[in-house]
Amino acid sequence: MSAGRIVAGALAPHPPHLIYAANPPQNEPKAECGWEVLRWGYERMAKDLEALDVDTIVVFSPHWQTYIGTHFLGVPSFQSLSVDPIFPNLFRYHYDVQVDVALAEAMHDAAREEGLVTSMMRNPDFRVDYGTIVSCHLARPAWDVPIVSISSCRSTAFYNVDVMQEQAMALARATRRAIEASGKRVLLLASTSLSHRHFTTEAAVPEDMTREHIYNHHLYLWDMRLIDQMKRGQTRAMWEQMPEFVEQAVSEADSGALSWLLACLDFPNYAAEVYAYGTVIGTGNAVAAWVPGGAV
Ligand SMILES: [Fe+2]
Repeated sequence: MSAGRIVAGALAPHPPHLIYAANPPQNEPKAECGWEVLRWGYERMAKDLEALDVDTIVVFSPHWQTYIGTHFLGVPSFQSLSVDPIFPNLFRYHYDVQVDVALAEAMHDAAREEGLVTSMMRNPDFRVDYGTIVSCHLARPAWDVPIVSISSCRSTAFYNVDVMQEQAMALARATRRAIEASGKRVLLLASTSLSHRHFTTEAAVPEDMTREHIYNHHLYLWDMRLIDQMKRGQTRAMWEQMPEFVEQAVSEADSGALSWLLACLDFPNYAAEVYAYGTVIGTGNAVAAWVPGGAV
């Protein structure tokens, strides 16, 4: 068996609005349109990633929040209805998720060896979080490969960004080791926005794009700084400025998803392909991918 490897790592944000606007059969609410730049960018990224012959997708989600340690989905399949807690009018999604339990267990064991507190989620009735579902749907709409979903243990909130980064680094070492031993070709998804200031009043029509824009110029500048660094391969700088970024841009990267992705990819000094940037309810979202050893 040849060594497994990470074939790509993607920044794959999870606004449920992007699924709502695309009207896939799994989602009950129907939209007229909306958020086209992000959706079309995602479509281009999904097409490029599909060409990489992926065996498994590993996704790190800020919305599976576990307060004691890092958890991994550990049941072969989950079927249920996912309803967004903030926007139940936009996202009522019937999911059928297949899990690569062998890889999840290998990651769990490797993470434990790294000294992290870990747990396997073995409850077949567990409701998979919408961060996992939305990112996987948009990056791979066919749902034709199994996934591993990793929770966020919220160490930024409990301690600080430095502790989160230390844990992300350990989890990344474990992720890489488990993937290499698996012999599989794996796509990584960091399910996260960049800046994360929400609007405070809602439009009557959710897809009314006259209401969609960034709400704070400083947050826009932070997003542009991060994207510029992605394009220049300056991922070490992204890592080092994470404490300031998380605090000043109210960033969802506090979950550890972006730090984990950069560390898993061993801090690329080559350019990411940036497919799109846009806001959703005012939050900054970039869709981007790094492909080790080759162009997308
Ligand atoms: Fe989110």
